Amino acid sequence: MKKILITGGAGFIGSHVVRLFVQQYPQYHIYNLDALTYAGNLENLTDIENEPNYTFIKGDIVSEEAMNKLFAKHQFDSVIHLAAESHVDRSISDPLSFIRTNILGTVNLLNAAKSIWHGN
Ligand SMILES: NC(=O)c1ccc[n+]([C@@H]2O[C@H](COP(=O)([O-])OP(=O)(O)OC[C@H]3O[C@@H](n4cnc5c(N)ncnc54)[C@H](O)[C@@H]3O)[C@@H](O)[C@H]2O)c1
Repeated sequence: MKKILITGGAGFIGSHVVRLFVQQYPQYHIYNLDALTYAGNLENLTDIENEPNYTFIKGDIVSEEAMNKLFAKHQFDSVIHLAAESHVDRSISDPLSFIRTNILGTVNLLNAAKSIWHGN
């Protein structure tokens, strides 16, 4: 069974993408990784939370160690990356959290994927 990681799956866009994949592709296992910040809400997904091809993982993409361990453990086949700081007003009041999540977090995911897919 293919393993698909979707980050930010408790958010606005991610919850729709998670639901679509869980319902349309029972042959894939969908892992929803989300830190559940102020923007994440698992109540968006109560209708599919008990599906056998769905797993929620609470985690922060900013943690390089956690991402490396997660990819090593699950050996994901594909990643859809939707975890983000997305609220424009907050980018003015707290720009560093945008740099951490949107830039460092994205690089952590790319490096973790590279390490399991290419072994370096
Ligand atoms: N909403 C739109 O209309 C729209 C349009 C085009 C593109 N996008 C893009 O789609 C992506 C998602 O947008 P959205 O509107 O769903 O955002 P959102 O703020 O609703 O959801 C973001 C999700 O990411 C999670 N998250 C935040 N930081 C995290 C971290 N460090 N680790 C793990 N999870 C974390 C949050 O808990 C939340 O569930 C963004 O890149 C956004 O720019 C959104």
